[in-house]
Amino acid sequence: MGKIKIGIIGGTGLSDPDILKEGKGKQVSTPFGEPSDALVVGKISGVECVLLARHGKKHTVMPTNINYRANIWALKEEGCTHVVVTTACGSLREEYKPGDLVFPDQFIDRTTKRVSTFYDGKEGSPSGICHMPMHEPYCRHVREILGEVAKELNVSHHSSGTNVVVEGPRFSSKAESKMFQMWGGDIINMTAVPEVVLANEAGLCYAAIAMVTDYDCWRDDHEPVSVESVMAIFKSNVENVKKLLLAVIPRIAAKEWDDIIEQRQAATTSNTMQHGT
Ligand code: ADE
Repeated sequence: MGKIKIGIIGGTGLSDPDILKEGKGKQVSTPFGEPSDALVVGKISGVECVLLARHGKKHTVMPTNINYRANIWALKEEGCTHVVVTTACGSLREEYKPGDLVFPDQFIDRTTKRVSTFYDGKEGSPSGICHMPMHEPYCRHVREILGEVAKELNVSHHSSGTNVVVEGPRFSSKAESKMFQMWGGDIINMTAVPEVVLANEAGLCYAAIAMVTDYDCWRDDHEPVSVESVMAIFKSNVENVKKLLLAVIPRIAAKEWDDIIEQRQAATTSNTMQHGT
């Protein structure tokens, strides 16, 4: 069985690396520039992990300005085979309630200002043009483990969901929010794309733990989303996210991944057109 290493990208409300006991800070650089912050390298339950704060440890990087390519490249370079991320999200359905955890399986991309490939034809970038299939962007196997463990821990969760990803930093208008519902969106955030796309290009098994913090602004009987409500709900439920993360890591490590990782890497190669092919 090959060795695995798990990258953990902490989102809003979970930027501090205290889940990693005796973690060591490691400043790295990539061909795409600097990641959001120093990596924190260490072990959780004996499993090698690498922690990264998506918005920086002091939450200074807004969604549009996050260097998603540097973040994913840095985790890949560090030897990660898996990436499990946390994020706050709004809910577009009554049954996805504030405090619930969601393990999304699909996204709808509404971002407009982000580079979403490593294969950009520039010097220093990997060669070729990569057309990554995106029918199943999130790792089914990691999502399955997330669902099992959340059930065992009795944490209120949804084992699937379509995430509408908006550019931000503003929240949506009511008309947009209702349109996203009609499109089939279940939740909404600002960071899943291009993070999940790049993780696929890098051949990583990627899954997300999204915490519902608000009902966005489509409900007439609820206050519209605000930073204050997002932070308050996240804070009062953050222990569930930490508990789940800590329990999921040894369970990921107990699974045999060699074939899955090999298939992922082969998918990147076979979907990258090299010059002259
Ligand atoms: N993150 C948390 N809540 C959100 C919302 N309603 N829209 C976009 N991103 C969010």
